[in-house]
Amino acid sequence: MTSEIHFDGRVAVITGAGGGLGKTYALELARRGAHVVVNDLGGAADGSGKGSSMADQTVDEIRKAGGQAVASYDSVATPAGGEAIVRTALDRFGRVDIVINNAGILRDKSFAKLEPADLEIVLDVHLKGAFYVSQPAFRAMKDQSYGRFLFTASAAGIFGNFGQTNYGAAKMGLVGLSNVLAVEGAKNNIKSNVIAPIAKTRLTENLLGPMASNLEPTTVTPLACYLVSEACELSHEVFFVGLTPGWFAGKGKAVSLEDVRDHLGQIMDEKSYIVPKSIGDEMRVIAKDLMG
Ligand code: NAI
Repeated sequence: MTSEIHFDGRVAVITGAGGGLGKTYALELARRGAHVVVNDLGGAADGSGKGSSMADQTVDEIRKAGGQAVASYDSVATPAGGEAIVRTALDRFGRVDIVINNAGILRDKSFAKLEPADLEIVLDVHLKGAFYVSQPAFRAMKDQSYGRFLFTASAAGIFGNFGQTNYGAAKMGLVGLSNVLAVEGAKNNIKSNVIAPIAKTRLTENLLGPMASNLEPTTVTPLACYLVSEACELSHEVFFVGLTPGWFAGKGKAVSLEDVRDHLGQIMDEKSYIVPKSIGDEMRVIAKDLMG
């Protein structure tokens, strides 16, 4: 297949798009013609503070490149915040076709030491936040019989990771939320999928060791953006709960949305499927390809 994947006329809401992974999604979708609501609370990685500069910067970059975007500084973590974020898309661009639930924070502590407040804020941002943004968007998508959701889970929940009971539980809750939306949305052409990414961002920069330089957020962008495209027929999927040989473009090679589409057979092939026992196991398998 050679045709390019476009997002002309599509309106995307991307939460947490002021930095890290979300910013790459915003830039790529805007470059391909989407009108983008760049939502970001603009606080610190532990969920404290707020500010407008992170969202503004992504919007500036999109506009300078000739794209269309509007900033939203609301927190996803309340019903009013979720409503306001979706309202921004409807008021400014007239519809909402895509929601990428990406906003996230960390409050890591060993289970014995975790305080209720560390549980609540993490559930509020990741799990309830995705619910609060997705519900008003889902209603609008039903009316127009078109929609694409992407949720962001984590290997920390799928395989487990020390100090992340709050985060792991919230992230696996999102798998349930996406699966139900995939079922409820099916008859209205609303598709919902989950990714569990790995990338060097402010949340992980101290954890990835020598692999960090091979794990720029842009390595995740093509799959994430393909999954919210009209070209994507997949729904009810989780990338990845186990590992297969998959498809690898080659060390250091850039990957496009079209590459994802054109190699979907290999990507989805479940031959030689393994389930890593830990994040360490998962990283060792990935390192073989990435680091040669
Ligand atoms: P990041 O910290 O660069 O991005 C998260 C963004 O969410 C930040 O810009 C932050 O300001 C924003 N945010 C936080 N709370 C918010 C709220 N209440 N409302 C609106 N925006 C809010 O980190 P990264 O890594 O790009 O994270 C993106 C998503 O990917 C998160 O959900 C994270 O849990 C998930 N993830 C990342 C992994 C990685 O390897 N980087 C691994 C697994 C999951």
